Amino acid sequence: MLPRLPVYLLISLPVLLVQGSTTTSSKKSSAAPASPPPRPPPPLGDPSWALGLRLYQALRSDSSSVNTLFSPLLVASSLGALSGGSAGTTASQLQDLLKTPTPFKAGVQAGEHLSVALKSFAEANVTAFHLHTSSAVFSKQAPPVSKAFEKDGQARFRLQHQPLGKGDSKADLKQLHGWAKAGLGGLEGAPLEAEIQAKAGALILANALRFKGLWEREFGEDNTDRRTFLGKKYTKVMMMHRAGLYRHHEDIENMVQVLEAPLWGGKASLVLLLPFHVENLARLDKLLTLELLSKWLEKTNITSVAISLPKANITSTISLQKQLIALGLTDAWDQKVADFSGVADKSKGKLHLGGVLHWAFLELAAQAGKGEADLEEENIEKPKLFYADHPFIIFVRDNATGALLLMGALDHAEGEALHDEL
Ligand SMILES: *[C@@H]1O[C@H](CO)[C@@H](O)[C@H](O)[C@H]1NC(C)=O
Ligand SMILES: *[C@@H]1O[C@H](CO)[C@@H](O)[C@H](O)[C@H]1NC(C)=O
Ligand SMILES: *[C@@H]1O[C@H](CO)[C@@H](O)[C@H](O)[C@H]1NC(C)=O
Ligand SMILES: *[C@@H]1O[C@H](CO)[C@@H](O)[C@H](O)[C@H]1NC(C)=O
Repeated sequence: MLPRLPVYLLISLPVLLVQGSTTTSSKKSSAAPASPPPRPPPPLGDPSWALGLRLYQALRSDSSSVNTLFSPLLVASSLGALSGGSAGTTASQLQDLLKTPTPFKAGVQAGEHLSVALKSFAEANVTAFHLHTSSAVFSKQAPPVSKAFEKDGQARFRLQHQPLGKGDSKADLKQLHGWAKAGLGGLEGAPLEAEIQAKAGALILANALRFKGLWEREFGEDNTDRRTFLGKKYTKVMMMHRAGLYRHHEDIENMVQVLEAPLWGGKASLVLLLPFHVENLARLDKLLTLELLSKWLEKTNITSVAISLPKANITSTISLQKQLIALGLTDAWDQKVADFSGVADKSKGKLHLGGVLHWAFLELAAQAGKGEADLEEENIEKPKLFYADHPFIIFVRDNATGALLLMGALDHAEGEALHDEL
């Protein structure tokens, strides 16, 4: 079963193949590829995947959500830091969010794993991708924050403490926006829909992440053209094309293609889930479980694939309060029951969670990483078509730890609107 075959693709395919197999500069041999590199640990035992998937589905249960994007790793590690500063049911509810169906590795705590994953991503920065991240816990008119909590949050989870000013909610919002812009490397994030009313004693968790992957093998600039993206609206977008050897799997029963494309040096990869046919993502969103994702990723096999992807950006700013409450985090928000006694002494009845805010930006572009990647020439035969002219789901995972840096959906690609919509 093949995805739709647009006529122009059939025509352009031979051209694409020739270009695909000649762009590789360092020629070693045209023999069959060496055995595929070992896979990262599967999602099943990973707290970033477990929380990420539950949050994603909570966000997507609101049918108006478009171009969802967030960093499961940053949310999980910031909540992990906060659980270290809490006690009683506040702590157990925070820890429950990081539970996985199977343990990651005997003796390795969720927090430890997340901390290692954060380091692993930071090390691949600049070579495998351009990454900006910031995590902070803001406090409003709170008792002094304990040095131990501040130090531990900073050292293990890159979580900084920032006091909010004395001003009103407008001033708070301005401060948060300024922080997010700096965290996004100077980029203006999408506006925040939710209202922020930080009462005295409020803690606000905030994460900001900007990501641009650098492929192991580039999508050449001359392999780019304008085509139609069949999203929420039909738009004209730049599409990039490349034929090569990729991990790929077709789930015929569920009518979805799974593609894993390495980023430079194999330090991380982009995983894409694309329905066979043009449809919105509602069906696929509901299908996702950790078990199924682990199975799909294990089943991917090195295959000749002709990939077409839109050059697109996803930008998202969300408040996760409603979703975290739905996932069982209830006590932390209530001043009377929340117990953040590890964040500040004698804070019982004062400190509470006032918000969990998230800014994220993802750029899908054609470039590969720089440097001497000694890549073998690829022997491409009868490629499968991975023609992403309609909505798909995206993951970015770390190779060494398997952790999930980003999860999102491209429901709509910005571009000139077409008038002949169906
Ligand atoms: C990645 O590198 C850039 C450029 O050196 C730097 O500005 C940024 O802070 C780094 N990101 C992380 C997460 O370390
Ligand atoms: C990717 O992860 C696997 C499994 O942990 C490891 O064996 C391999 O060396 C890693 N590759 C790179 C390029 O780090
Ligand atoms: C991957 O492909 C190889 C060779 O085509 C085959 O022997 C192997 O069974 C496949 N693995 C999976 C998991 O499908
Ligand atoms: C995505 O954002 C980057 C950075 O702001 C910009 O340079 C690029 O042109 C954008 N790409 C698209 C397809 O809009």
